[in-house]
Amino acid sequence: MGKVHVLDHPLLQHKLSILRDKNTGVKEFREAVGEIAALMCYEATRDLPTHEVEIETPITTAKFKVLAGKKLAIVPILRAGLGMVDSMIALMPSAKIGHIGMFRDPETHKAVKYYCKMPPDISERQVFVVDPMLATGGTVIAAIDVLKNEYGCKNITLMNIIAAPEGLKAVTEAHPDIDIYVTAVDDCLNENAYIVPGLGDCGDRIFGTK
Ligand code: URA
Repeated sequence: MGKVHVLDHPLLQHKLSILRDKNTGVKEFREAVGEIAALMCYEATRDLPTHEVEIETPITTAKFKVLAGKKLAIVPILRAGLGMVDSMIALMPSAKIGHIGMFRDPETHKAVKYYCKMPPDISERQVFVVDPMLATGGTVIAAIDVLKNEYGCKNITLMNIIAAPEGLKAVTEAHPDIDIYVTAVDDCLNENAYIVPGLGDCGDRIFGTK
């Protein structure tokens, strides 16, 4: 059974407030997204397995922990998820990256996959799905459906900077097995499915497209 982890560390909350401020410019916004993703990654990888190896320090030889070499993958949901990738690769340099792009069909309102490229051995990897904003949950649910049903992924962790209660409920109901890491659960969605108070359109603010 998965768990929802709300990360209330002061460093994260401070950086999140920078993101929320409408006067924060593209450069500072991008940097803060990266820093938040790194701090979230630190928590989301807390349970990675380690094993002991013998290491010779300048003083003596003793056994110390190193990562057990579990295979990892980061899957950003296009486009805003890309903003979280670089700082996570810095912490997990051997992680492979898969990309998934979804759009909302204007007639059926269903999330439709328009791009998907995964590492060939993705089913054997611990997958970190990243998308800064969890709004209705439709896109994330569909992306995780693809990873599970088309690629056979079994170990999936979701990282969202801000979640709406509606989105969290929908994802936990659809995929009760996954762990979800967020830095805030906001109040609600507005009539345009933006998170309130939120931070606006995260993709536009990362890429400067508005
Ligand atoms: N996506 C965004 O970028 N912002 C929201 O508030 C909701 C979805």
